Amino acid sequence: MDHIALLGLGTVGGGVAEILMKNRSDITAKTGLDIDIKHILDLRKFPDHPLGDRVTDDYNLILGDPEVTLVAEMMGGVHPAYEFTAEALRAKKSVVTSNKAVVAEYGVELLELAAENGVRYLFEASVGGGIPIIHSMTDSMYASDIYEIDGILNGTTNYILSAMKETGVSFDAALKDAQKLGYAEANPTEDVDGFDACRKICILAAMASGRLVYFRDVPTKGIREITTDDIKAASAKGGAIKLIAKALFKENGEIELSVAPEVVYPDNPLFNVNGVYNGVLVRGRNSGDLLFYGSGAGKLPTAGAVISDIIDILLHKNEMPAQKLWHK
Ligand code: HSE
Repeated sequence: MDHIALLGLGTVGGGVAEILMKNRSDITAKTGLDIDIKHILDLRKFPDHPLGDRVTDDYNLILGDPEVTLVAEMMGGVHPAYEFTAEALRAKKSVVTSNKAVVAEYGVELLELAAENGVRYLFEASVGGGIPIIHSMTDSMYASDIYEIDGILNGTTNYILSAMKETGVSFDAALKDAQKLGYAEANPTEDVDGFDACRKICILAAMASGRLVYFRDVPTKGIREITTDDIKAASAKGGAIKLIAKALFKENGEIELSVAPEVVYPDNPLFNVNGVYNGVLVRGRNSGDLLFYGSGAGKLPTAGAVISDIIDILLHKNEMPAQKLWHK
């Protein structure tokens, strides 16, 4: 049996617990692994949750437990998630995360720390929710020679823009719905002002190039100023407004990143990416165009991506990380 700990029993953490309980025998049949959630770190109490007796507010209990070899961090926010991740890696526990804010800010350091300690740091769930984009980029695209990535990478804003177009609902009402559905960040400015999409395109560009560009250096514009009139005007021309995160890899080695709303037309494969769905168009000189599509946010899709990283690590315990280290 493999014992793991969850940091956070919110939307994603709750989804990981739910899937690992519900699909336990299926996962065992497919992988031979029997995964036990031994501890859950959360400041709240969960008296009615089936794993409520495993919830603790004492992180040292997890760090000091030699049976726990892997920690899944799903707390959100940069601090103390970064510090907790670093402490787990120093304690020679692998870490998987859905936390794009930590990966975008500290990915270089944390990958180095993982390598120094002979453990792994994986973050499939940090970009694209349930879409297996990080594994695809790290394992299957070495020879693609990527020159451009265009992504709809934020489910909340795509949900809002789609709802405004399809039902004429107001921006505020659509945002409230996205919050109710568990798509939005705790602070929705992260979504609507484009910062979440910005962090995600920085992570994808790093997977393609080996270089992590600081998100603060990326020109970023969100959808706050988009009105229903703008949406109607785009529709009248046969288009749709989408929040597009873009990475251009120049021949001279420069990387140009941006996030901004754009009018997209039906000849663009991202035109039909609606609602909470994300789409990523990866263009390579060798691979041609590749399109990834799936739920970009939400409990179970994101939790499934976290679990795929957990299984990857537990199945390949003695292998060193495949990721290259990034340079700023
Ligand atoms: N708030 C994010 C989104 C959650 O809407 O895409 C998934 O990263």
